[in-house]
Amino acid sequence: MIKTIEYVDGMVRMIDQTRLPAEKVFVDCKTIEEVGQAIKTMVIRGAPAIGVAAAMGVSLGADAITAANFDEFYDAMKRQCDRLGKSRPTAVNLAWAIDRMKQVARDSKNFSIAAVKVRLKQEALAILTEDVSINKSMGQHGQTLVKNGNVILTHCNAGALATAGFGTALGVIRASVNAGKNVRVLANETRPFLQGARLTAWELKEDGIPVKLITDNMCGFFMKNQQVDMVIVGADRIAKNGDVANKIGTYMVAVLAKENRIPFYVAAPVSTLDFALASGDEIPIEERSAEEVVNINGKRIAPEGIEVAHPAFDITPNKLVTAIITENGIARAPYTASLQTMVKKK
Ligand code: MRU
Repeated sequence: MIKTIEYVDGMVRMIDQTRLPAEKVFVDCKTIEEVGQAIKTMVIRGAPAIGVAAAMGVSLGADAITAANFDEFYDAMKRQCDRLGKSRPTAVNLAWAIDRMKQVARDSKNFSIAAVKVRLKQEALAILTEDVSINKSMGQHGQTLVKNGNVILTHCNAGALATAGFGTALGVIRASVNAGKNVRVLANETRPFLQGARLTAWELKEDGIPVKLITDNMCGFFMKNQQVDMVIVGADRIAKNGDVANKIGTYMVAVLAKENRIPFYVAAPVSTLDFALASGDEIPIEERSAEEVVNINGKRIAPEGIEVAHPAFDITPNKLVTAIITENGIARAPYTASLQTMVKKK
């Protein structure tokens, strides 16, 4: 499996997810600004991967600061972090990673600036390594819900490409396969950015996990015809009450799952929980460019001058969520209490 993101010779190297699966090309970021641009343009995407990229970006930014003392250094770092924090609004892992890096800097204020920079780089690498082991733990918990022979429907890409490796929703699927279960995946193509068709289909096929691609509007057909045993998706942010922000279309999938009595699971690390927000109503929803809707693979499909809407995420209310799988266990309703215990177990 190709590495989603890594440090190479003082640069942050990412596989360009806008070009997959047609081309496997890499983007090397030398500055925090280039990392911010890569997040914005979705060269790297998926909540945990955005968090890892942000941490590495902060480290690159810190390396470039020349300052006479810690306060000067930290002021400059904070300004860089504020700009990076604006690159995408919905996935809370971005702010989570930046806050964690800022905390490391503050905890190191009595060190030399050179030593602070070293500690920041070590922290970014720790966030990357931890992400993979978190996903493996999540997979272990999640696979207990999966039975041999199950067909699992997923939306968007919550796989190795959306994380530092292994994946969240696809991590549960990988762990089920590793536990010897035969599972098959139905992948929604996920218009308009096609993360399902381009990324989920690609990475599962690479791993030899049986996957069938469908367009988003076909998923109700398969659910009604009893060809789906469960849905597993990732999340970009989960509010205190268990409302889930995830890729646009997730809400539609959850409603269809409820109607057809199919369990709807969300797999997400604790870093995706945002207890500062009481409900999903407070989660900021990114509005992306109309160009991504009116074009497919660079080819215009809609009339010139047409009015377009493009919310990139939606909110699935907690009442539609059967369980939330984290690295620390499986949370069930009422989520306000159960999600707290997931964090305390950390
Ligand atoms: O716009 P994207 O591709 O960054 O959206 C990604 C998703 O919605 C994923 O499902 C989510 O980030 C979880 S990834 C493990």
